[in-house]
Amino acid sequence: MMEDFQQLQQTVESCTRCDLCQGRHHVVFGTGNPQAKVMFIGEGPGEQEDLKGEPFVGRSGQLMDKMLEYVGLSRKTNIYIANMVKCRPPQNRDPSKDEVALCIGYLRNQVYLIRPKVIVCVGRIAATALISPTYKVTKEHGTFVERNGTLLMGTFHPAALLRNPDNKSAAMEDLFRLRDKLLELGLLQPEEPEHNC
Ligand code: URA
Repeated sequence: MMEDFQQLQQTVESCTRCDLCQGRHHVVFGTGNPQAKVMFIGEGPGEQEDLKGEPFVGRSGQLMDKMLEYVGLSRKTNIYIANMVKCRPPQNRDPSKDEVALCIGYLRNQVYLIRPKVIVCVGRIAATALISPTYKVTKEHGTFVERNGTLLMGTFHPAALLRNPDNKSAAMEDLFRLRDKLLELGLLQPEEPEHNC
């Protein structure tokens, strides 16, 4: 494991372990607060993310940011966001098992350095890789499982919510459960009541 976050980022940015390096504009290492207690882990960069070098900046990312704001979470302050694979799979296909296997060491190194108390797996690819190979988001979303002192939860991918908005309220429920858990653990400060004077 690398002990230095910047050194890890530089290593990942020059990675050529799999063929995804050939079509990339940018490696999408991750974004947010490396001291955060909560990590969100998606699948892999899409077109906008590849162009910008930052995770979740396209339409689904905008939806995710909006939903996170409701529960007092933001990449600017108190969460860190990364993906299972750091380079864009062509035509936004799912990353293959081999691509995930070749890239997951970088994610494990990020988790080792950030030491989050809670990891949210955003969508099937992250949840099946990190929680259980048989994980079903529609059935198991919103429940916490504990692994070596870290809580893991799976939830809907925002791209799936854009395709099927019916699941948006269930996805918000997951985030409210996350907020409640963070408040319970003292990892999030309760919101100040608004003063209307
Ligand atoms: N979808 C993901 O899973 N990750 C991103 O960074 C963007 C879209």
